Amino acid sequence: NIIDQLAGRDRIPAFMRMRQAAIESGDSAVAAAPTMERMARLYFERGGKLFRPTIAMLMASACNQEVLARGAHGRSSAAAAASVTSMANLQQLQQHDDDDISQRQAAIAMIAEMIHVASLVHDDVIDEASTRRGAPSVNGYWGNKMAVLAGDFILARATQALCRIGDARVIATMAKIIEDLVVGEFLQMSPELSPDGNEQTTNFKDQRSSPVHSSLSDRLTLYISKSEAKTASLFENSCRSVAMLADASDVDLHSLAAAYGRHVGLAFQLIDDAIDYELEGEEDSDAAGKPIAVDLEQGLITGPLLLAVSSESELASLLRTSPAAIREAVRRSGACERTRELAATHARTAAEIATSLRSSNGAGDALANLALKQLERRS
Ligand code: FPP
Ligand code: MG
Ligand code: MG
Repeated sequence: NIIDQLAGRDRIPAFMRMRQAAIESGDSAVAAAPTMERMARLYFERGGKLFRPTIAMLMASACNQEVLARGAHGRSSAAAAASVTSMANLQQLQQHDDDDISQRQAAIAMIAEMIHVASLVHDDVIDEASTRRGAPSVNGYWGNKMAVLAGDFILARATQALCRIGDARVIATMAKIIEDLVVGEFLQMSPELSPDGNEQTTNFKDQRSSPVHSSLSDRLTLYISKSEAKTASLFENSCRSVAMLADASDVDLHSLAAAYGRHVGLAFQLIDDAIDYELEGEEDSDAAGKPIAVDLEQGLITGPLLLAVSSESELASLLRTSPAAIREAVRRSGACERTRELAATHARTAAEIATSLRSSNGAGDALANLALKQLERRS
């Protein structure tokens, strides 16, 4: 698998420790903990792509190398020159293990995966999904009530691991991910992104019962904001966090790492949304290990549909037809290709950022390749 090849992550001890450490790191002695741990471990044990921690690890390595390069060749900007003492740098670098990634940076990668998995557990409740990663979902086994608690439990253990890093700015940065995931999921339920124009929560309906009046460009803006919050923030803020741990005061590097993560995250979501229209429902769902080709049926308007029409009225009349007809019209319009082109602009920007990092160990190139490889994804 390309990610394994590029990241060489099987050699990274933190990855091997991740599944155990992720959940068993708490100190709770209460009788419920073992049962909760069993539920919480379910998705970790099924593997998954580990895409988020891989990006975080590679970005950690690339940033550490860049900090070294800046130290060796002099810092380029006056602000950067004033920002950090070589002693502070030295102390940070001494913490790096053989993989050139500090324990604290490896913890960020683990926490990124834990937050992601917690959000999947809750997402499967919201989406009433009975499968995940090729087998029954947490809610499929234990029901919704237990699944909500299992997601909370993973988040609690992730928070404890985050606090052990002991850096207030990093804690705030990673906590922002949790807020953004919730906001993104909430934005996704807004009427502008719903095929029937109705808010999908009862409280929403009580407050705003009028039908939605939106422009196509408003909907596109909302779709991108939703994608930034629901998907890109996790990449953006875990990359920012590992950059902060590479050099606490190099704000240029923090922004660069964060921008890479944001663009990769957007490319990732856009490709996912194109695939949702490109694949056929049932047979491809089996291959994916989760329900696919379902965005529309689940009441969600995404990029391909918005890019398939040229006006609000065209969208409105398309939405009055059947899901099968909408899917066919989207495919015929070339909107999946346009969605992929938009993803490509983000992936290329990410790749440029990654190659600008002076990492002699190839981490920057691996990050660039990972960004561009997204574009080849067909499932
Ligand atoms: C998958 O989306 C879901 C997410 C990326 C985020 C879900 C976020 C929440 C449920 C908010 C709660 C957050 C936390 C941290 C507990 P999807 O349904 O489009 O994708 P899928 O096909 O993988 O199900
Ligand atoms: Mg889902
Ligand atoms: Mg969902």
